[in-house]
Amino acid sequence: MQNGEILDLKPDLPDFRKEVLRGLQNPAKWIHPKFFYDPAGSLLFEMITELPEYYQTRIEDSILREKCDRLSRVLRKVTSVVELGAGSGRKSISLIKCLPGLKEYTLLDISISSLAGAVSLLRSTFPDKLIFGVCTDYLNPKTMYTGESNGSSMVVFLGSTIGNMEIQDSLNFLRSCSEGMASGDTILIGVDMKKDKKVLERAYNDSAGVTARFNLNLIERIRKEFGVFIPSDAFTHRAFYNEDFGRIEMHLTCTRELTLELDGNIVKFSRGEEIHTENSYKYSAKEFSKMLSDSGFSLVDTLTDGKGYYSIFIARKP
Ligand code: AVI
Repeated sequence: MQNGEILDLKPDLPDFRKEVLRGLQNPAKWIHPKFFYDPAGSLLFEMITELPEYYQTRIEDSILREKCDRLSRVLRKVTSVVELGAGSGRKSISLIKCLPGLKEYTLLDISISSLAGAVSLLRSTFPDKLIFGVCTDYLNPKTMYTGESNGSSMVVFLGSTIGNMEIQDSLNFLRSCSEGMASGDTILIGVDMKKDKKVLERAYNDSAGVTARFNLNLIERIRKEFGVFIPSDAFTHRAFYNEDFGRIEMHLTCTRELTLELDGNIVKFSRGEEIHTENSYKYSAKEFSKMLSDSGFSLVDTLTDGKGYYSIFIARKP
């Protein structure tokens, strides 16, 4: 591949109308969080990452910047990186600066337009590195694209995106990563940690109401994509920490009795009924270390901020 090239594997895109209809016909209504990220939702998510209450993105970046010497030592052998879920590419910049031996950096993402933006950002920031893009469903990659390796490849999964998977799915995902990697290769993952409930709940109930708009954007998508009328105040945003499950839950609460006709199907909502839209799991260091060892990795290092809010786990395939 040529520097800057994007390989389009034409991943199957999820069918919004079909999947949403299935979720809303379930007795406990739900919509998968992957549907947040249409162009408007992706913009709202970028705004969330800048909010004073949403510490995750900022702390992840500050760990990478402040612990760069330590990272450079631990990751000195790494010459090639595959990042799962490139997004805007901004979260990769501080990491790349800590990889002294890096030659090539490959971004995987399901959205060809974000991939194009991320590849061009990284190419202009690091003109001496080879930057590639692969448009694919990174949660279900055919291969890890790490090539043949002897400890010089690394898989990167930043942004605590792993928190949006159910625990068993995270385990299966990490297992499939380790199966696709060569012995001696590294995985680096950003994880949001368990902490004071008030801090967590504030991060998902920001005072500017951006997270509410992000959640309610799903109603906007239903309105547009099914071509139905839904009163603008028919749903409200609700987010809370569920201690029993160790996760933030996001819901859309229906404020009235409502009947929608979606592709010829009648969907009824009672007043107070909810659509479950997201889980964001939080881990303790012990829980996540166990998850790594259960999926075939051995822990090399954990980098954390001063308050222990967020951690970057580095592990190797033995
Ligand atoms: C992408 N993901 C890690 C975010 C999270 O915190 O679970 C998505 C998000 N949902 C509400 N705010 C941010």
